[in-house]
Amino acid sequence: MSRRDVSKPLSTNPHLCKWVQKMAELTQPAAIHWVDGSLEEYEALCAQMVEAGTFIKLNEQLWPGCYYARSDASDVARVEDRTYICSLSRDSAGPTNNWVDPFEMRRKLKTLFAGSMAGRTMYVLPFSMGPIGSPMAQIGVQLTDSPYVVVNMRIMARIGLPVYREIERDSKRVVPCLHSVGVPLRPGQKDVPWPCNPEKYIVHFPESREIWSYGSGYGGNALLGKKCFALRIASNMARDEGWMAEHMLILGVENPQGEKTYIAAAFPSACGKTNFAMLVPPAAFKGWKVWTVGDDIAWLRPDANGRLRAINPEAGFFGVAPGTSVKTNPNAMAALAKNTIFTNVALTPEGGVWWEGMTETPPAECLDWQGRPWTPALARETGAKAAHPNARFTAPASQCPTIDPDWEKPEGVPISAIVFGGRRATTMPLVYQAFNWSAGVYMGATMGSEMTAAAAGTVGKVRRDPFAMLPFCGYHMGDYFRHWIKMQRSLTETPRIFHVNWFRKDADGQFLWPGFGENMRVLKWIVDRARGRALGRETPIGWQPRYEDLEWTGLDFPRETFDALQGFDRSAWRSEIIGHEELFIDLHSHLPKELVYERELLICRM
Ligand code: OXD
Ligand code: MN
Repeated sequence: MSRRDVSKPLSTNPHLCKWVQKMAELTQPAAIHWVDGSLEEYEALCAQMVEAGTFIKLNEQLWPGCYYARSDASDVARVEDRTYICSLSRDSAGPTNNWVDPFEMRRKLKTLFAGSMAGRTMYVLPFSMGPIGSPMAQIGVQLTDSPYVVVNMRIMARIGLPVYREIERDSKRVVPCLHSVGVPLRPGQKDVPWPCNPEKYIVHFPESREIWSYGSGYGGNALLGKKCFALRIASNMARDEGWMAEHMLILGVENPQGEKTYIAAAFPSACGKTNFAMLVPPAAFKGWKVWTVGDDIAWLRPDANGRLRAINPEAGFFGVAPGTSVKTNPNAMAALAKNTIFTNVALTPEGGVWWEGMTETPPAECLDWQGRPWTPALARETGAKAAHPNARFTAPASQCPTIDPDWEKPEGVPISAIVFGGRRATTMPLVYQAFNWSAGVYMGATMGSEMTAAAAGTVGKVRRDPFAMLPFCGYHMGDYFRHWIKMQRSLTETPRIFHVNWFRKDADGQFLWPGFGENMRVLKWIVDRARGRALGRETPIGWQPRYEDLEWTGLDFPRETFDALQGFDRSAWRSEIIGHEELFIDLHSHLPKELVYERELLICRM
């Protein structure tokens, strides 16, 4: 451990010190460690976890600065059914969130957290979501008994000394975040590599802007800056303060003349969001570049001129490893090549990592995400996966070769277009543009993705996931739609709104569109539309490019296939609109009238 006395408070802020003391009295840790965020501290915590068996240091020649962790087999993903929005009234949380009376929940949490850190160290972890000092950034302090969380948060957010300095400037609001894995240790009791509790609670108090997380050490359940703060709590702040906290990637498209256009895009999970954020244009697009600002979350706010600007509140990528390869996403592979933490992937005999889809040829043998021997033959026989499907890499965003030079600009980047998308085998064309802002809000409100065979439910049935925010909107979804509608009033020029679908299939079940880098052709049309220099055709659902409106150089793509891909099927759209009703009925009492009218207009145009 570093030579500094880590128990000595690094802040003199009386509110912070008092809260730390109060929470320590509740959770009874054996020690308190004020996190300074230094590399020395990071390395000491990693070494301590190697000693404890939580981390394995990867081969320094192959994976410099990288560590490997295996979670408990029961703690592998976000637990949506254990996630609560405890607003004062049930109505404020709305029908899409779990709600418990906040007074009852506080009583429950106090019981759970009483003595929950016994035998462990409580880390005081100050973090900034957004570049430190940015007017769009927000500050939190997470108290956690997990060193794994501390080192992951050092990659995913700005942490430590500069954040204490922000807190000292007493105008800054601080979101208190309490986290415990929920496994107190008796004196002399040996710890396990991945402590967690079968009982989990991920709780948000939106009015008092607090987060309490108990029982899990994994991802969005435990790295509280990400989904809990940057989406669920921030969506509440944003509604009250006139900005937007969205589940969106941000990218910049630069043309050969050096003109840059920024786009924010929302997709439900498993639609290739990280790949899109790091898109590599095809060879025929000489001189074009796609720059990455963020891959998961965007905070958007109108500037003094009424232009919508966005920051990525995060500093790293917490990406799904399986399926990521030099072919599908060379930029992600470069970003994770060093100084990365891998969780629940497979470990190779050379001290490297592997996951399904990383290379065409799997390793001859490895240890799977639970430490059991795995071979390709075993996989063929039993279907066993070497990596868990939700295995992750935690990698610094600064290591991404396409990271935008302006990604940390305090004022954010100007957003010219917003893109919605989903995984849809039928109905949804490759791309279309909404007629205007409210039609675009309707588009976002009704977006969805088809369920795959892997998920419970009917294959092919569309799961509505408005704005990809279903698990992340921290208040009533109907009020959230209303907030989107209202944002138009504070913008002098609204970004243009588009819908894309890379996943449409033909009658034989074959994808009609090659996807990946070829999505650049769609992106170029979007940029040109947003800048008012591309044509399109009016259809009942919006503006669509004609064949001749897309750039086809370097791709032999038949006009008939394009027609099938862009085809507007009246009877499929009838069912689609009836499908929109399902969610709207649940949200009815809070639904803004603009969306009811948009639905009527769409029906009329049919
Ligand atoms: C994520 C998610 O982990 O959306 O980013 O689930
Ligand atoms: Mn996400």
